[in-house]
Amino acid sequence: MNEQTKLIDPFGRQITYLRLSVTDRCNFRCVYCMAEDMTFLPKQRLLCYEELTQISQAFTELGVNKIRLTGGEPLVRHDIIKLTSNLGQLDGLKNLAITTNGSMLTKLAKPLYQSGVRSLNISLDTLDEEQFHSVTRTGKLSKVLDGIQAAKEAGFEKIKLNAVIMKGQNDQQIPALLNYVLENELDISFIEEMPLGHISSHDRAKTFCSSEDVKAIIKDHYQLLPSTLNTGGPSRYFSIPGHRSNIGFISPHSNNFCGSCNRIRLTAEGQLLLCLGNEDSLDLRAIVRRYPNQPEVLKERIIEAIKLKPKEHHFSNDGDVQILRFMNMTGG
Ligand code: GTP
Ligand code: 5AD
Ligand code: SF4
Repeated sequence: MNEQTKLIDPFGRQITYLRLSVTDRCNFRCVYCMAEDMTFLPKQRLLCYEELTQISQAFTELGVNKIRLTGGEPLVRHDIIKLTSNLGQLDGLKNLAITTNGSMLTKLAKPLYQSGVRSLNISLDTLDEEQFHSVTRTGKLSKVLDGIQAAKEAGFEKIKLNAVIMKGQNDQQIPALLNYVLENELDISFIEEMPLGHISSHDRAKTFCSSEDVKAIIKDHYQLLPSTLNTGGPSRYFSIPGHRSNIGFISPHSNNFCGSCNRIRLTAEGQLLLCLGNEDSLDLRAIVRRYPNQPEVLKERIIEAIKLKPKEHHFSNDGDVQILRFMNMTGG
C-alpha cells in the first residue's frame, strides 16, 4: 500500500515527507525564531499524542515514509517517548527523525534511539559560550555539546547540525563550527534566515547572510567540492577532501528547492500547512476531533488538501515579514 504515494500535488510532486510540530514551546528563545516574551498556546489547543498518532497513521497509509518531529522544542513534551514509540511502529514509515536544540539529549538520546528514531538534526549556531547565550537568550552551550556526545554514544549515525548564520553576529564562528563537525564526523547545514513572524528586537535585513557569503568564508580555510548527495531536502551539499562530513547550504532566498518539494507540515495546533512560505492550510485538529476514529474521513480530506499545495514560496531578504506565524509554530 505504501509503495506509491496517493499524495501527488497538481505540479506532479509526490508528498512522502511529513514535518510534525509537536509543541510551540521551547526552553530557548533564539533571537531569529521568537520574541523574548513569547506567549505559548494553552495545552488543550495542541494535538494530544493519540491524535498525533492517528494523523501520522493516516499519512503513512497514504504513502508518507518519513516523519520529522519538530517544535518549538519537541523534547519538552513530557510524552515524547510515548509518541516516538507509537510512530516507530507505523507500517511503511522508513525514517523517523527529530529536529531539536539538543539541550535535553543527555537524558533523552538513548530512549529516543530505542524507540525507533534514527536521525537527529541539532541546532548549533556558535561554539562561543557567551554568544551562544546571547543568541538563544536562555541556553547553555555545554548542555548542547554534552547532548551531541550523548547522541553519538546512543548509536545515532546520522547527526546534522543546523547553524543559522547572521552577519556581524555568528558569521565569525563558521570556521570553528566546521572544525567541530569535521572532528566529530557530523554533517552541518548553514541556513539563510527566513522572514517568519515579526520580532521587534531583531532586524533581519541588517544581519542577513547569504549562502554565497558563507561559502566565501569557508573557501579561505577549506576546499569545497560539490556533492551528489541529495536527501530530498532543501540543503545543497558539498564535501571537503579527506573528510566524511556533508556540508550543506539551505538558501530559501537565493536558491529555493520548491520544484522538488516532497514535504508538508502540521503545526502544533493541527493545521496542515501546504508550504512553509504560504498561509494555505487545513484544520486537521477539527477533523480528528469531529470524526474520532474515522480514518477514512481524515484521509479523504488530506487527499483534497494536497490539491492546494502552492507551486513555490517567494521570500525576500529586505526584512519585511511575509508570514505572520512564528517559526516555532512549524519548526521550519
Ligand atoms: P531533512 O531534509 O529532513 O534532513 O532536514 P531539513 O534540513 O530540511 O530540516 P531541519 O528541521 O533540520 O530544518 C533545517 C532548516 O531547513 C530550517 O531552517 C527549516 O526552516 C528549513 N526548511 C525545512 N524545510 C523547508 C522547506 O520546505 N522550505 C524551506 N525554504 N526551508 C525549509
Ligand atoms: N530562519 C531560518 N531558520 C530558522 N530556524 C529557526 N528560525 C529560523 C528562521 N527564522 C531553524 C532553527 C532550527 C530549525 C528547525 O529552524 O535553527 O535548526
Ligand atoms: Fe527553540 Fe529552535 Fe526556536 Fe531556538 S530555533 S527558540 S531552539 S524552537
